[in-house]
Amino acid sequence: MVFNSSICIVDAALMIDDLPVDAIARELETPVYMYSLKRIQENYRRMKVAFEPVGARIHYSAKANSNPAILRTLIDEGAGIDAVSGGEIARALLAGAAAQDIVFAGVGKTVAEIASAVERGIGWFNVENELELQYLNEAASSIGRQKLQVALRFNPEVSADTHPHISTGHGGAKFGLTVRAIGDALEQPQRYPYLSICGIHVHIGSQLGDSAATLQALAKTKQLIGSYPEIHTINLGGGFPVAYRQDQALPSLEDLVSEIAPHLHGYQVLLEPGRAVVANAGILVATVLYVKEQAGKVFYIVDASMTELIRPALYGAHHEIVPLVQADAERVVAQVVGPVCESADVLATDREMARLQVGDRVAIMTAGAYGMAMASNYNSRARPAEVVVAVDGGSWSVSRRRETIRDLINCEA
Ligand code: LLP
Repeated sequence: MVFNSSICIVDAALMIDDLPVDAIARELETPVYMYSLKRIQENYRRMKVAFEPVGARIHYSAKANSNPAILRTLIDEGAGIDAVSGGEIARALLAGAAAQDIVFAGVGKTVAEIASAVERGIGWFNVENELELQYLNEAASSIGRQKLQVALRFNPEVSADTHPHISTGHGGAKFGLTVRAIGDALEQPQRYPYLSICGIHVHIGSQLGDSAATLQALAKTKQLIGSYPEIHTINLGGGFPVAYRQDQALPSLEDLVSEIAPHLHGYQVLLEPGRAVVANAGILVATVLYVKEQAGKVFYIVDASMTELIRPALYGAHHEIVPLVQADAERVVAQVVGPVCESADVLATDREMARLQVGDRVAIMTAGAYGMAMASNYNSRARPAEVVVAVDGGSWSVSRRRETIRDLINCEA
């Protein structure tokens, strides 16, 4: 559901928990991100309960949103962190994660990132290259760290039914290792005396609408690791879907768990959800700067753009757009666009919505995942502030201030 118990309309006002979004927006510059920590806590708890039958350990995928208040909330709930760079590891540690509870993943880790992660005592390494095993082994041997936990990322050659940009498990993808490469590594563990290759990682994509591809991937995984009893852990990655449209029906987590649980028996299970934890807890608030009608179309030019939320431009993604204050305005079909000098800078195409006026504020919904995390400074635009509403639902604070022009030029000689 796009609306949920934390982000919903009450008496014509869009609310974030107990607070009217417009009351917060009036005190700040737009565009601005707002997140409900209560919703994030509840999303995490729901996932934890759903996966209890397989005893899964959840590592929140920080790439979806690495806001420090969000990381702290999840770490306080007991989540580990899935990090894909030295930067994400640093953020996770700063937010209070124990190094042991961090998974370091990524198809192109640098030697320096690997050495630093080994020194810091990171708990798991998801490995995607044979050479990476050597680097890890050398890094561990140089500081005498024994039995580093490694999961080999398997490319099962299964095509997930999702947008091609976020499908990762097909044969042509850059991700993971082939059956042969994994077999080679498992046949010769003596080549890596400082490593304990005891896990297999299989993430086939994001926003997976059903379990069919996951079940196929799992069957291939089980076939591959069946003769290696030292593999005691299966990391299934993330990919749990969220509804971006009000009427979008999705399978429940509980159904998914009941389908996959029989295949996970006897293994420790790790998960790396990102989107499902944060997407529906976040909105991006924007103000209408201009309205124009040309070539038979209505354009709402708002102050948010592809630099704050690239998903519509990059994946053709749909995000509902809701006025902060509902009025009985006539319905129109409009284009909601940003100020950036790119024709792809469109947030909604031919969208039926209530007629807007200059100065009206709107929320771009379900923007908590891969929104701010993918924001850029293109067109020398400052990235927006991030507001968090506390888990009590009744108070808000600025967790990250809006960037200034000085921030933009700070690194320049
Ligand atoms: N684990 C691995 C290895 C991943 O590559 C990803 C996402 C996740 C976990 C978390 O997946 P999630 O639970 O969020 O689906 N920017 C795109 C999504 C890119 C996903 C990249 N990898 C979007 O906005 O749809």
